[in-house]
Amino acid sequence: MLRLGENLTVKTVLTDSPETAAEFIRSGGLAAFPTETVYGLGANVFDETAVAKIFDAKRRPADNPLIAHVARREDILLLVAQVTETAQVLIDNFFPGPLTIVGSKSAAVPAMATAGLDTIGVRMPRNEIAFRFLSACGTPVVAPSANLSGRPSPTTWHAVVEDLDGRIDCILKGDPAEIGLESTVVDCTGDIPLILRTGSISLEQIAAVLPNVRHYEPTETAAPRSPGLRHRHYSPRAKVVIDGSRIDDADKSAFIGVNTNGAQFALIEICESVDEYARELFGFFRKCDRRGIETIYCEEVPATGIGAALMDRLRRAASGK
Ligand code: TXA
Ligand code: MG
Repeated sequence: MLRLGENLTVKTVLTDSPETAAEFIRSGGLAAFPTETVYGLGANVFDETAVAKIFDAKRRPADNPLIAHVARREDILLLVAQVTETAQVLIDNFFPGPLTIVGSKSAAVPAMATAGLDTIGVRMPRNEIAFRFLSACGTPVVAPSANLSGRPSPTTWHAVVEDLDGRIDCILKGDPAEIGLESTVVDCTGDIPLILRTGSISLEQIAAVLPNVRHYEPTETAAPRSPGLRHRHYSPRAKVVIDGSRIDDADKSAFIGVNTNGAQFALIEICESVDEYARELFGFFRKCDRRGIETIYCEEVPATGIGAALMDRLRRAASGK
């Protein structure tokens, strides 16, 4: 942040130009950018000082590893020590797209980017602006979701401004995110591919090409495979209640779902499909917080396809985890 005298502060640069935003990455700064899942907060993966700034700007716990983003398949080899057979199948079928593979990390990646883990998450977004931005950066870019830690992920550039204005160098403006929930994360380091985080690429879609894929079940004793899932996530300030026919106070309550439940609320969002529900959820959480809503009632949907990822985010928001 550039200070001009006592009170006058030049804040984060807003731009439509992927090249302008990439210039900040090339010079060691932080730039937020759109992807098809949610907006990311980027830094050059090989620049340890820049990577450290991400943790500061987001107030992110240092034990939560970052996902590296590439423009081209060949750049994956800059990040992982080897591409396993399962990783290759996922790359062939789902890159570019809303899927992150976890593989063993190459020695060139600084430990800070992966929170000291010897593995790294890699993703190749399919969003056109993200592609132009990453190409112009000329390096893989680590990027967590561009929100303050614990807040809902940003699905619009306005949400990035809300959380990070003045804390980062640049925001590359794009359209609202097409999917609205974060990528599916799959651990490809073992014999059995494990889904660490659900997303819009569903278990069913992955099982069609990797029949032995499973959801990772954390146990009490084993070290968590996806440290990020330990931290508080996806939460508005308001209390989130899944379904819940009881309404505390209609004036301070909101509802989101695909069907009305007939009751009165201060804010109601009825979506045309589960896809739209997923796309709107985080933006709705933020809107509720701005309006001082105290309880958000969320309709339960079948946990298939993107419904599984949606229910995962709702449960985390409802439990405050
Ligand atoms: O869709 C997305 O993935 C977005 C966009 C910006 O690409 N990014 C995103 O990043 O959601 P973040 O940092 O908010 O979430 C990354 C998740 C965390 O749950 C983290 O623990 C997990 O991925 N993760 C990252 N690297 C990992 C690794 N090496 N091993 C296991 N889990 C990892
Ligand atoms: Mg996040």
